[in-house]
Amino acid sequence: MSALLEISDLHAGYDRREVLRGVNLFVRPAEIVVMIGPNGAGKSTLLRTVFGFLRPQRGEVRLEGEPLGGLSPPEVLRRGVCYVMQGYSVLPNLSVYDNLLLGAYVRRDRRVREDVERVLERFPILRERRREKARVLSGGERRMLELARVLLLSPKLVLLDEPTLGLAPAVVDQVYGMVHDLRAQGIAFFVVEQNARTALRNADRAYVLEQGRVRFEGRGEEILHHPEVQRAYLGGSVTPPAAPGGTPPPPPPE
Ligand SMILES: Nc1ncnc2c1ncn2[C@@H]1O[C@H](COP(=O)(O)OP(=O)(O)O)[C@@H](O)[C@H]1O
Ligand SMILES: [Mg+2]
Repeated sequence: MSALLEISDLHAGYDRREVLRGVNLFVRPAEIVVMIGPNGAGKSTLLRTVFGFLRPQRGEVRLEGEPLGGLSPPEVLRRGVCYVMQGYSVLPNLSVYDNLLLGAYVRRDRRVREDVERVLERFPILRERRREKARVLSGGERRMLELARVLLLSPKLVLLDEPTLGLAPAVVDQVYGMVHDLRAQGIAFFVVEQNARTALRNADRAYVLEQGRVRFEGRGEEILHHPEVQRAYLGGSVTPPAAPGGTPPPPPPE
């Protein structure tokens, strides 16, 4: 197995407070990996630590085998990791076009404007609205803008924190449609979600984080059908219960 991102025995938190208590996980190239878990489990803390906003207290984060721990966010970005934070990260008073340009600020080459044009070709809705302020975009269009901006950096891995929070179901599907499109180009995604059902359906693999530790892991479908996950996160069963005497689905590997 060649992992793109590999996290081993990661402990991290705030001041003396430990939020992550020994997290192990990996993301392969061009894989869509989802992490679900209750509010306060440490999902955002994990993304902040990978991206370099927080330093690991113990354990390691590796990208293509190279340690990331201790690098600053711009350095992590230059290694090919993008982070789309929880809540909207577009600047509402800048135009769609300027938001795109700003997203590429860490690039040192001079082809940014050409690339912005290329990206706009791929997102006609944004192209039409390129001169409008980002604040007039709908929630789904802002997500589109965030993902378009990420494309300008040609990342290997994108970290998404709650990308579908507050979006209508049809828009949620559009967001995941974009994620699948970008994955087809070789970009891996590590997505943290409370919208567990949709996230798991779109995941190659998934992890459940509880109180700073990975409680379950498996293929997206396996986690979706895991009885305990269903009880805790999906409000009951996804498929009709098995007939009496039927075999329960196997638990995912720990
Ligand atoms: N900046 C911070 N300073 C101190 N504690 C924080 C900070 N951000 C989050 N926490 C705490 O860390 C724990 C995990 O939070 P978080 O990673 O945001 O969880 P999740 O994203 O899974 O909801 C929570 O108990 C939260 O209160
Ligand atoms: Mg969070």
